[in-house]
Amino acid sequence: MGRMTHVLTALAWPYANGPRHIGHVAGFGVPADVFARYMRMRGHDVLMVSGTDEHGTPILVQADAEGLTAAEAAAKYNRIIVEDLDALGLSYDLFTRTTTGNHYRTVQELFTTLYGNGYILQKKTLGAISPSTGRTLPDRYIEGTCPHCGFDSARGDQCDNCGRQLDPVDLIDPKSRINGETPKFVEEDHFFLDLPAFADALNAWLDTRTGWRTNVLRFTRNLLDEMHPRPISRDLDWGVPIPLEGWVDRPDKRLYVWFDAVIGYLSATIEWARRSGDPEAWKRWWQDPEAVSYYFMGKDNIVFHSEIWPAMLLGANGEGANGGEPGALGKLNLPTEVVSSEFLTMEGKQFSSSRRVVIYVRDFLERYSPDALRYYICAAGPENQDSDFTWAEFLRRNNDELVAGWGNLVNRSIAMAAKNFGAVPEPGELEEVDRELLAATRDAFDTVGDLIGANKVRAGIGEAMKAVAAANKYLADTAPWKMKEDPKRQATVLYTVLQAVSDLKTIMSPFLPHSSQRVHELLGGEGVFSPMPYIEEVAELDEGGATDGPYPILTGDYSDVPKWESVPLVPGTVLEKPTPVFTKLDPSIVDEEIERLNA
Ligand code: MF3
Ligand code: ZN
Repeated sequence: MGRMTHVLTALAWPYANGPRHIGHVAGFGVPADVFARYMRMRGHDVLMVSGTDEHGTPILVQADAEGLTAAEAAAKYNRIIVEDLDALGLSYDLFTRTTTGNHYRTVQELFTTLYGNGYILQKKTLGAISPSTGRTLPDRYIEGTCPHCGFDSARGDQCDNCGRQLDPVDLIDPKSRINGETPKFVEEDHFFLDLPAFADALNAWLDTRTGWRTNVLRFTRNLLDEMHPRPISRDLDWGVPIPLEGWVDRPDKRLYVWFDAVIGYLSATIEWARRSGDPEAWKRWWQDPEAVSYYFMGKDNIVFHSEIWPAMLLGANGEGANGGEPGALGKLNLPTEVVSSEFLTMEGKQFSSSRRVVIYVRDFLERYSPDALRYYICAAGPENQDSDFTWAEFLRRNNDELVAGWGNLVNRSIAMAAKNFGAVPEPGELEEVDRELLAATRDAFDTVGDLIGANKVRAGIGEAMKAVAAANKYLADTAPWKMKEDPKRQATVLYTVLQAVSDLKTIMSPFLPHSSQRVHELLGGEGVFSPMPYIEEVAELDEGGATDGPYPILTGDYSDVPKWESVPLVPGTVLEKPTPVFTKLDPSIVDEEIERLNA
């Protein structure tokens, strides 16, 4: 990607059924934001989109529990989630929702194209209903034993142990996860996506996908080994209506939530373009063959992004075994890469809002800074294998690495320069050690940048912290505080370390944007260094969705980001005594937090 490329950064759509916990943002949020921020700094035209996933049973179940309508519950949690993601500084171009009129239109357009191209089948099928309520029991709320591997907590849609896709009728001894009762199976008419018609095209596409994480590739290959038509309609009154005569007005049939949600990537891009004043602009990320797209999610979402969404796109392009023509939205790009992370556990247990094994982003940020959380996720997140969040490890990473490493470097060097010179000092002739430090820091642009570009965030921040350690070592070795007798040499050393700090704040900024902004200001810089998202209340663009009236979006202006390169400091720039950039935490927080969890 030498020249400017259009880069779609697509983040999984959180269900609007509760606030987000730190496991969620470790999976889809922070890694994607690091990537998007870096790609912008490299001059690419990045579009980062997502929104709340507001249909389906997860929302209905939550609404019931709170005595709200589905629309009310969705609106409530949409707003809460928007605030959580904003507080973490996730730089969405548009974070919207799936209940907009624009989304409904786009989903129906894609369904119509797939239907016209012959990729949607109508069949009789056995559907599960709850005997006590008479209501449809959605797949993921049915649990039983996997008929393939014997795993005893397989879900109706998928076995998390062997990874196979399931139908609820396949489960041995199925039970409702809502109330434990045995579901009743009744015959119903439903629509299916003809997945087998995409077997060849999907395999050929996957063969061209190099550089994916091995676990994602392996999982996807397994999926493609065995494909069945996949149901895409449900007996529900909450969702996108099925745009066919005899169906569209039925109050009890809707498209399956996953069918509509993945189309959100496209509809959100279209909404962004319409709001930007250039309604055609979305095509640059979806139709330009040079454009790339990266999808970020937790591993339970892989199937929908590496098999089903690509199949839907192939079908809409007329590129499956049944042929066909592109529809009104033209020929659309398939994902460049599905970047899936593993799971974050907490103190050894799986996150679970219902079992209250959970730390919500908003509670976390009431007590700690967004960059402290971002640092933990970048340095110790579940990138290639499950990882555990513990408060003891959070304390250690924060105090020993962030505060003692990066924070200390910033504060020591700026404080010394402010005290002795009141400004960025004018350097004398550089010595070998000085040149070595500056070269090492400059090299980190390439090393760290290549790692972020390959979505190796853990290794990337590790390399950045090595460069920080080198600068701290330089300070310790040169000991400028002992140079009272030699102000010229002291000026050169402090200039050198300040230049390294300045470069490092650029290198750190995709990971830790809030503190990089502060370091920029401490070094006498003005204006925005790390652009931040903001919340805007916007009016609905179209009728026909399920929202009424204005809703909050997350958006931002990221057009003026700094470049990914070293910028020379200007001697004479006034420096003031800095206040600490990071907060050292008292060890007592560990017990306090664990007590809070158990309360
Ligand atoms: N709502 C889903 C979840 O939280 C993710 C949906 S991602 C999508 O697991 F884009 F496919 F919708
Ligand atoms: Zn299984």
